Amino acid sequence: MKENIQEGLAKIQIFPGKIKKSDIVFYNPEMKINRDISSLAIETFTSLTGRTVKVLDVMAASGIRGIRYYLENKRVEKVIFNDLNPHAIKLIKDNVKKNNIKNYEIYQKDAAELMHQYRFEGDVVDLDPFGSASYYLEALARCTSNKGLFMVTFTDTAVLSGTYPRTALRRYNVEHRKDYFPKGEVALRVAWKVIVECFAKFDKGIVPLMSISHKHYIKVMGMVDKHKKKAEENLKNLEYIQYKDNQEKEFVKCPKEEKYIGKIWKGSLQNEEFIKKCLSIGKRKEYIDKASLKLLTRLFDESSIPDGKYYELPKITKYYKKPVKSFQEIKREIEQRGYRMKKTHMKGNIVITDAPFEILKECLL
Ligand SMILES: C[S@@+](CC[C@H](N)C(=O)[O-])C[C@H]1O[C@@H](n2cnc3c(N)ncnc32)[C@H](O)[C@@H]1O
Repeated sequence: MKENIQEGLAKIQIFPGKIKKSDIVFYNPEMKINRDISSLAIETFTSLTGRTVKVLDVMAASGIRGIRYYLENKRVEKVIFNDLNPHAIKLIKDNVKKNNIKNYEIYQKDAAELMHQYRFEGDVVDLDPFGSASYYLEALARCTSNKGLFMVTFTDTAVLSGTYPRTALRRYNVEHRKDYFPKGEVALRVAWKVIVECFAKFDKGIVPLMSISHKHYIKVMGMVDKHKKKAEENLKNLEYIQYKDNQEKEFVKCPKEEKYIGKIWKGSLQNEEFIKKCLSIGKRKEYIDKASLKLLTRLFDESSIPDGKYYELPKITKYYKKPVKSFQEIKREIEQRGYRMKKTHMKGNIVITDAPFEILKECLL
C-alpha cells in the first residue's frame, strides 16, 4: 500500500518500508535534511550564477529530489529523472503528475549510461546511490557542464573513514588507517580526492562548495571550473596527512612518520560565501527543517576558518589522561593567544582551529 506524504513543497506517494535497499521503491525520511540543503544549494547556485538550469536526478527512486528541486527553485526549468528500478519509474510518473511538473524526462537506465548520454550538459547533477558513489564518478565528471554544480552522496562511510583500509585502497586508491580522527573529516577528504582525480581526466578543475558528514552518509557539493590549470592546481592539493598518537597532524608531500593517510584532499572543505547565502535563503523558507538550518549554521561557522585543522578534542585529552574543558573555556584561551576556534557541523566535540597544535594543547590541558 502506498502512502501520501509531504516533504518541502512536494506532495508525493511512497511505499512505506523499513528503509532498506530492498524496499519496492526507496524513500528515507531521515534524508530530508540532505534534500533540504541540496534544494537550497541549487537556489544559491542559480542566484549566484544567474543561470537557469536543467537538473539530472540520476538515482531518483520516488522522484522526491527532482520534484522538490523543480517546485522550490524558480530557475530550475527542467528535470531529467532516472532510476534502474521499474517500480521507481512508475512511481516517478505518478508523482510528477501529482505535482504538476511541466518540463521533464524519465529514463530507466544505468545512471552512468545516462550521465554519458548527457555529457557536458549537466547544469546540476545529483548522484545519490546506495553505498559508494565511486563507480559513477567518471560519468559524473564527464556529464557536469563547465560552471555546473554536482552533488554527491556516499553512504560507505566506514570505508571512507578507514575502518576497512584494504577496501579503501581498492575502491579509492588511498592508503588508510583506523586511528586517524576525526573520521568524518577524513571521509570527506578521501571523497574529494577521488572527485578531483576523476574530473582532472577531463581537464576539469573543481571548487568545493560544501562538505557534510552527517549520520550514516557524507555529501559533497562542488562547481566545475573547466581549465587545465585548475585541474592541475587541484591535483597539487592532494597530499598525505601524517599524524601521531596524540593527534598532532601535518599535511606533507612525502610522509616521514610511521602513521599517515593519503593521498587525500588538503584544501578547504567549505565555501563561506556559498554557505552564508544558503543559510540566509533557508531562513526565509518555512518548509526547511530547523535541523537543516542548525546544520547549515555550523557549516557556516566552520567555513570561516578555511585553512584550519580539524580536531576531535576528547581524543587528545584522553591521550593525555586529562578531563575535557568546556568548549567556551578552550575557545577563550585560544582567542587570547590570537587564534580562532569554531565548533564544526560534525558530531562529537569536533572543532576547527588555526592555532598550532602546541597552542591547542596548552589551552586544552
Ligand atoms: C539511495 S536511493 C535514491 C534515493 C533518492 N534520491 C531520494 O532522495 O529519496 C538509490 C536509487 O538508485 C537506484 N539505482 C541503483 N543502482 C542504480 C544504477 N546503476 N543506475 C540507476 N539507478 C540505480 C535504486 O533503484 C534506488 O532507487
